[in-house]
Amino acid sequence: MDFKSKYNGYVKAVNAALDGIVKTGAGPGAVIYDAMKYSVAAGGKRLRPVLALAVCELLKGDINDVMVFACAIELIHTYSLIHDDLPAMDDDDYRRGIPTNHKVFGEATAILAGDALLNKAYELMITHVVKNSLYTKNYAQAINVIAAGAGAEGMILGQVIDMESEGKRVSGETLEYMHRCKTGALIKAPVLAAASICGATPDEYESLGKYARNIGLAFQVKDDIMDVSGSSQQMGKPSGSDAASNKSTYATLYGAERASELLDEMIQEAVDSLKCFGDRAGFLKDLAIFIRDRDN
Ligand code: IPE
Ligand code: IPE
Ligand code: MG
Ligand code: MG
Ligand code: MG
Repeated sequence: MDFKSKYNGYVKAVNAALDGIVKTGAGPGAVIYDAMKYSVAAGGKRLRPVLALAVCELLKGDINDVMVFACAIELIHTYSLIHDDLPAMDDDDYRRGIPTNHKVFGEATAILAGDALLNKAYELMITHVVKNSLYTKNYAQAINVIAAGAGAEGMILGQVIDMESEGKRVSGETLEYMHRCKTGALIKAPVLAAASICGATPDEYESLGKYARNIGLAFQVKDDIMDVSGSSQQMGKPSGSDAASNKSTYATLYGAERASELLDEMIQEAVDSLKCFGDRAGFLKDLAIFIRDRDN
């Protein structure tokens, strides 16, 4: 099967699962469910859950089992986007091709919808563990890697450094650290969570970790480049947002051309780190190339 068909197959399965997880409701306060569903159902590339499912397949794990964790990470990612777009943060009006959550539901509900998606993610994972008596180190480690990636040493730390760096010329080192935290951590999480659940050997875990670390940084570098050169329509979010808020990005620090070269190197390293899997890692290698060449 070609890369695109396989990717779309994963996305279809993820969307069906998410649809059953984020429900609408009725009665007082039901707007919170509408707000949660609004941003989750808007789509997006579903890269993080796709990564989890692809690692699961590589390691011959149980897709239905890993799907729960894949969806939990997508809920956390979606919450991070809702909050990232708020006026207090990047103040953006479009996301995933439609008006941002706060534009439709107002800031207070958007904040709460983000909070609710974050909580839903942990509820989902823990319910799955309890229901199926999965009280093993592997599952605990998977939840741990997700929590750490999302928290104050991961995505949230990156967002704070991002805000601190507005209007400043930060060092390459700080910028790389910021990107590894704000985006890399939540891209590493699905890879390592799936690796844990599927019982990766220490060598496999290390190779997958190296892969994830490289695509995680590369993903944000490409995002920075597209903010300068991409089309809002293709991306479903405004281009030029970083310049408008004086952000420090790979494009501003290195220029688009040098940033692209660095991106190439990261992707090459990601591909190389999968050597030990041979042909079985074909999809993950193609996924790294996709991250480099994407236009949304
Ligand atoms: C956007 O993430 C935010 C970044 C971390 C750069 P994605 O580009 O994965 O957004 P969706 O999920 O496809 O909308
Ligand atoms: C956001 O980075 C990373 C998150 C943790 C959401 P950006 O602010 O560059 O993401 P976009 O460009 O708005 O999607
Ligand atoms: Mg931001
Ligand atoms: Mg943003
Ligand atoms: Mg961006």
